[in-house]
Amino acid sequence: MQDLNKLWKIFNEKFTDTGLVKGAFSAPGRVNLIGEHTDYNEGFVLPIAIRKKIIMLGQLRNDRLVQVFDLVYKTKIKFSLDALTPLKKDTWVNYLMGVVDEIQKAGYPLQGANLIFTSNIPQRVGLSSSAALEVVTALTMAKLNLLEIKPVEMAHLCRRAENNFVGVACGIMDQYVSCLGQKNYALFIDCRSNDYDLIPFKDHNYQIVICNSKVQRGLVNSEYNIRREECKMATEFFKHKLNREIRALRDITIDEYKKYQAQLPEVTARRARHVISENYRVQTGVQALRMGNYSAFGQLMIESHQSLKDDYEVSCIELDLLVNLALKQEGVLGARMTGAGFGGCTVNLIEKNYLDAFKKKIKNEYKKITGIIPDIYLTPPAEGAKVLELR
Ligand code: GLA
Repeated sequence: MQDLNKLWKIFNEKFTDTGLVKGAFSAPGRVNLIGEHTDYNEGFVLPIAIRKKIIMLGQLRNDRLVQVFDLVYKTKIKFSLDALTPLKKDTWVNYLMGVVDEIQKAGYPLQGANLIFTSNIPQRVGLSSSAALEVVTALTMAKLNLLEIKPVEMAHLCRRAENNFVGVACGIMDQYVSCLGQKNYALFIDCRSNDYDLIPFKDHNYQIVICNSKVQRGLVNSEYNIRREECKMATEFFKHKLNREIRALRDITIDEYKKYQAQLPEVTARRARHVISENYRVQTGVQALRMGNYSAFGQLMIESHQSLKDDYEVSCIELDLLVNLALKQEGVLGARMTGAGFGGCTVNLIEKNYLDAFKKKIKNEYKKITGIIPDIYLTPPAEGAKVLELR
């Protein structure tokens, strides 16, 4: 990634100095260790922020204009804070527009800004490059305008931007961990209360490894919405069966599920089983990590993948292949698909001594079968969004 001096040089070539506040900010992508498709069921998730991130440089303007130069696609776009409607072309701008829209709707006054940004987060492979773009925009605009927006509020605001402006009905996980992630900790989030706990993840013997299948599926959005509907149907069913307040699948125990599953339509029953058992796996996984039991955690990752593949049906051939190949290698404690699914990445937990052999084997074997060379990234839990400089 380019260093800040180089980025400021580009910034100064693109824009004339307004003499107002300026600064540099960053926000990371994420990988979810366990707890998939549970956030919108008010359940539990355990993501980490990754080393890959977006860096944004900005300077405040004295008017209502936002000008932004994207160093990835090399496009420059401008829009007014008073005319925010989603674009059909250059749709990446919608993440920025959505965020400033939500900041203003929350009652914070904004002035315009000149912005540039660069990213090394691969896009559309389930590592939350869009959440990172939302979060870095929110942080940049807040700091340049001297607003104090707390990280949790920022995460919610960014999620609303994605829901309302971009039109993707995502849960809170991605924005939350991009705002609040911390070095050497996984973030255990209760997606009902929005409370979180930092879970130490710093064993020098183990490494989190991401394998990018390089397969993107167009189905993600539509299938994601279908899964949400199926979960709602299952929730409605349990509301009628159980004599207490049920707000989401989070409220159903495994025993209750077992008692009534036969009365549910077969597909709905499997969707519910995934969510209910996954919530259980996250909580058990957190305990395992707290006790330093990495092999128990790895086992839960393996079960999570099975459940996502068979019950929730959001995996695909390439992800299953990456998981199967990984589980055949020495030193691999766990492997599963991560993110929304239908392509994208797997997350693996590996003993450090076996890393080189793992990388070589996975690259060769995956290429032999699919013709694609997968990308492999190593990442410890990294820190969340932050101010790099403000002057
Ligand atoms: C996407 C969404 C998240 C979450 C995951 C699945 O990444 O943005 O909110 O629902 O899918 O766990």
